[in-house]
Amino acid sequence: METIILAAGKGTRMKSKLPKVLHKVCGKPMLQHVIDAAKAAGSSREVVVIGNGAELVEQTISNVEFVLQAEQLGTGHAVLCTKEKFANAEGTVLVLCGDTPLFTGELLKKFVDKHLETKAAATVLTAEMPDATGYGRIIREDDGSFKKIVEHKDANSYERQINEVNAGIYCFDIKKLFGALTKVKNENAQGEYYLPDVLTILKSENEKINAFVTDDYTQTLGINSRVQLAEADKILRQRKNLELMNNGVTLIDPATTFIDSEVEIGQDTIIYPNTYIEGKTKIGENCVIGPSSRLQNMIVGNNVQAQFCYCHEAEICDDVIMGPYVQIRPNSKIGKKVKIGNFVEVKNSTVGEGSKLPHLQYIGDTDMGAGCNLGYC
Ligand code: UD1
Ligand code: MG
Repeated sequence: METIILAAGKGTRMKSKLPKVLHKVCGKPMLQHVIDAAKAAGSSREVVVIGNGAELVEQTISNVEFVLQAEQLGTGHAVLCTKEKFANAEGTVLVLCGDTPLFTGELLKKFVDKHLETKAAATVLTAEMPDATGYGRIIREDDGSFKKIVEHKDANSYERQINEVNAGIYCFDIKKLFGALTKVKNENAQGEYYLPDVLTILKSENEKINAFVTDDYTQTLGINSRVQLAEADKILRQRKNLELMNNGVTLIDPATTFIDSEVEIGQDTIIYPNTYIEGKTKIGENCVIGPSSRLQNMIVGNNVQAQFCYCHEAEICDDVIMGPYVQIRPNSKIGKKVKIGNFVEVKNSTVGEGSKLPHLQYIGDTDMGAGCNLGYC
């Protein structure tokens, strides 16, 4: 299975200089969440359509193919830009939006299986949204089958009351998709070529179209504004915290513990409140981290204690005790059984096994051996 991901849009509603799809949710660009879910669902190739901030997106995201949509004329036009990449392709293509980072690979897999099972020409994922404002609404025939999708801006007051929405996740027969795309028109409120119109076109050609409802609307939330970004971040962080707790990590207060999605933490480690564990940080077993600590891209061994610490891009070996009020700066390696007390900063240095930096020290660009004990004079 191959995947097209739409990520060229301006993201006007974000009011940001950064392309929308690079805004981070749970510490990872939203586009990367979408790519990771596609790969987890079995996608073998991801073609990402970029435009707004294309260069930055290309620099940030790897292991995908890019296609440029120089002018953003709508989601249908964006998919059409990938036509050459699929010149001789047959079978199924998954189409996703780069601004819906909450779905799991599991949900996608289930959705694709449903599409293949029903042998439809196209399947769209839908959800019942408590607040459907801004989304495309699903209009069904009297018998419940799919009729069409109406964008919020084009919808009349009756249609706006419908809360079943287009999640922006589709499966298509590749050939039928590109065949119908050339027939999409831009006669609508936004003057854009809408991808959802492909479904209506295929239906009018007597093709089978399915709309498959998910029971978890939180997985389909789209991010168009900073408010939605904060909502999505909260949901993903709760999911990450649950996963860690289910794997044997104690979080004293999950509500004040902020752990990025790629972080790994070993069994029986305890995280105290007001703690931020970010980036690709790895923490071993039996550690006590926090309260009030921030760890960014750190490697931490087993049995480490760190309270009131800020540690970034560095390594802490087993059995280290640190804090309060310690900063470990990039390229430092704190050896086994080291003790670092209050008001100590270590920068670009190694501290040998069992050494002690009890208080009020600055260690910079230093290679310190084992068993030292530095006093304050
Ligand atoms: C879109 C759907 C809407 C659905 C919602 C789900 C259309 C017309 N509408 O609306 O039915 O409910 O997603 O979240 O498809 N993009 C491009 N090129 C463009 C325009 C957009 O690549 O020319 C990309 C954007 O970067 C974004 C995605 O397509 O990642 C969706 O575009 P967006 O403008 O956010 O559409 P919505 O208004 O959210
Ligand atoms: Mg959107």
